[in-house]
Amino acid sequence: MPPTDSTAVAGQPAIRFENVVKKFGDHTVLDDLNFDVQRGERVTLIGPSGSGKTTILRLVMTLEHLTGGYMFVDGEPLTHMEVNGRRVERRSKDVARTTQKIGMVFQQFNLFPNMSVLENITEAPVHVLGRSQDQARARGLELLDQVGLADKADEHPTRLSGGQQQRVAIARALAMDPEILLLDEVTSALDPELVGEVLGVLRDVAKSTDITMLIVTHEMQFAQDVSHRVLMFDGGSIVEEASPDVMFTAPENERTRAFLQAVL
Ligand SMILES: Nc1ncnc2c1ncn2[C@@H]1O[C@H](COP(=O)(O)OP(=O)(O)OP(=O)(O)O)[C@@H](O)[C@H]1O
Ligand SMILES: [Mg+2]
Repeated sequence: MPPTDSTAVAGQPAIRFENVVKKFGDHTVLDDLNFDVQRGERVTLIGPSGSGKTTILRLVMTLEHLTGGYMFVDGEPLTHMEVNGRRVERRSKDVARTTQKIGMVFQQFNLFPNMSVLENITEAPVHVLGRSQDQARARGLELLDQVGLADKADEHPTRLSGGQQQRVAIARALAMDPEILLLDEVTSALDPELVGEVLGVLRDVAKSTDITMLIVTHEMQFAQDVSHRVLMFDGGSIVEEASPDVMFTAPENERTRAFLQAVL
């Protein structure tokens, strides 16, 4: 029997894509995609619009249905597994146990508008992880302090700037103690002067934790500073993979060069 419990398998990557296929109707977005992200590794995905970056993050978050192939988290099947040579869907309660390890921050902050800032952060730890209110509040206040918003705990999210809302969204994701953090263009909806404060918080998270990160961003300096590895996508395939230093200064692939020239 394949493993169905949530114990991490020693030595396995944090994330593995194995022959992943994703179609929307008859439009194939990802075709036989293979890559690993090691534990504690921070990997940035770059590439032109429509190349499949968001789709990859949404598949990991199980917000999209996998058409073919397998994804693994800590060596465990995420949504599908092979049983007696057949590809079968994993039970949803097993999937939920694995996705608890994963946090995601979106371009649109998606805060709960009817809750205070602190309630936004404590809601899932209390209701999903079963933490006590006191415990969740103490941790929530600690995280708000970390993202520079200790004084906004009782504020209503709609009264915060975009940059402040996004920092709350980051604190909310961290409150679930994720092993993996997925970041999809988290500064793209912000006014330029608010980008720096959000990136500053993320640099701090990168420096002070060993959370595995899969990042989609157009902030190339940030990507260069925090990533261990950069994957360039085009048409749903990896066309180049390199350390940030190489990727941003001496890319080999023609499409990478053209893309970086256009965005830098
Ligand atoms: N829900 C959907 N239904 C149909 N097609 C979709 C859906 N979501 C994404 N696609 C298609 O999948 C492809 C990849 O989209 P995706 O959003 O992953 O690209 P991206 O690399 O994140 O682009 P961007 O840089 O613009 O955010 C695109 O052709 C897109 O039109
Ligand atoms: Mg996208």
